[in-house]
Amino acid sequence: MNHYKDYQQIKFEINIFFDGILWRYEPLLQIKLEKTIPIFPPKNFHLFKPLVLLLPFLQQEVKPAFFYVYDDEIIGFFNLCTHIRVPLDLDDNRFFNVLGNIVCKVHGAQFCPKTGCVISGPARSPLFKIKIKNLSPENILTIEGFYRENFLQ
Ligand code: FES
Repeated sequence: MNHYKDYQQIKFEINIFFDGILWRYEPLLQIKLEKTIPIFPPKNFHLFKPLVLLLPFLQQEVKPAFFYVYDDEIIGFFNLCTHIRVPLDLDDNRFFNVLGNIVCKVHGAQFCPKTGCVISGPARSPLFKIKIKNLSPENILTIEGFYRENFLQ
């Protein structure tokens, strides 16, 4: 396994295969985190800023994804609305509304903060969720790939 820290390495050294459920990174992606992953707060969700990292996406693109700890689990999603595939936020790393749901700032679709499933439209598909293998004591995040929740139901 390799450690990827910058755009060039991600872009040229990772392959992505779809196995029917998961868009799988080959090799597994490992990122040494410089900051801790923040815990989802009990209130003031709209002010909360998750950790944002760049990850390989489809068609050789690199996209930002946001991470936080929710119910003791590390959760991550690509910052990509499934309505028309634009960023969910306003380039301010704020992804949640006052209810604690992920909200797209373009047309207001809401998504579950744990699964990425649609709570209200116009989006119809769940967000692309990051499949996390583990976070080591050395703060290395290992990522298997990404998927959408409906493939697993
Ligand atoms: S682009 Fe997100 S709801 Fe339309």
